[in-house]
Amino acid sequence: MKVGLLHPGAMGVTVGTALAESGHRVHWACDGRSAATAQRAAGAGFADLQTLPNLTKAVDGIISVCPPEAALELAASVVRSGFSGLYVDANAVSPDTGARLAELLGERYVDGGIVGPPARSPGSTRLFLSGPRAEEAADWFAAGFIETVMLGERCGAAKALKMCYAAYTKGASALLLAIRALAEAEGVTDALLAEWSRSQPGLAERSEHSAKAVSPKAWRFAGEMREIAATFEAAGLPGGFHEAAASVYERMADLKNADHPQVADVIERLLNEGASEGSSQGPRPTVS
Ligand SMILES: NC(=O)c1ccc[n+]([C@@H]2O[C@H](COP(=O)([O-])OP(=O)(O)OC[C@H]3O[C@@H](n4cnc5c(N)ncnc54)[C@H](OP(=O)(O)O)[C@@H]3O)[C@@H](O)[C@H]2O)c1
Repeated sequence: MKVGLLHPGAMGVTVGTALAESGHRVHWACDGRSAATAQRAAGAGFADLQTLPNLTKAVDGIISVCPPEAALELAASVVRSGFSGLYVDANAVSPDTGARLAELLGERYVDGGIVGPPARSPGSTRLFLSGPRAEEAADWFAAGFIETVMLGERCGAAKALKMCYAAYTKGASALLLAIRALAEAEGVTDALLAEWSRSQPGLAERSEHSAKAVSPKAWRFAGEMREIAATFEAAGLPGGFHEAAASVYERMADLKNADHPQVADVIERLLNEGASEGSSQGPRPTVS
């Protein structure tokens, strides 16, 4: 098959590689994309068809792996270009956003969600799929490091699974980093770390690891946290945890290109941006 990959980001390039290893020809379109994406695509040997209309005319199926807030607009552009093949949306969006995608794409829509890091080793990364035509999409991944998991015929199940999974992983990272900032603001960092080492072993290291791991992607996580908040609200549960997590990640957005971000860098963003948003507590302490 000829499969269109929109787009070869950090995760997308490994999805495309799994498709190529499964015997498919992978195409993408450079129009509007950065040099980093072009470099990843060239490195993986994907064919560049330049524009979305060129791509949608040439391929049998499309998989969308892009920032969550771009998922709907991207699908709408594909529909406008007259594409009639199978369309897998693998993005971290809510089941309600998934339902809007299904409305746009009709029978061609397959609901997806990816759990795990970019797929560079066996067993690391799963693509959850649901919907009436999910089996067809699973067949695209006969080889390579993307493992598919079927969640039945109900559109929305794969999105819901992704929302539940990331609610904990990315939600917990935001909570830990916010706690580190609070401890700093209140002057109790050393005491908190000492107590954590006695009664919550590993938490200090986890907060340090979170700062390194999530800072470069925080700009993208804010949108995902809002999708998770909407998923909680739609189920009649409080969405406030993840609305707050979205705010935490928004304050960290400029760490996108930071070299080796540390907890101190995160704390500085969280406290200083809070102060500039008009906190009644006055100026925040500077983090050493
Ligand atoms: N990375 C992970 O570990 C991971 C894990 C699980 C799930 N995922 C899911 O995979 C998806 C993408 O993640 P990623 O890590 O590949 O992100 P990424 O590295 O930021 O790549 C996103 C890709 O989408 C393109 N893009 C940016 N803005 C766009 C827009 N407005 N419309 C269309 N395309 C746009 C980017 O192009 P430019 O280069 O031009 O910006 C890039 O090629 C997300 O939905 C995420 O939840 C990722």
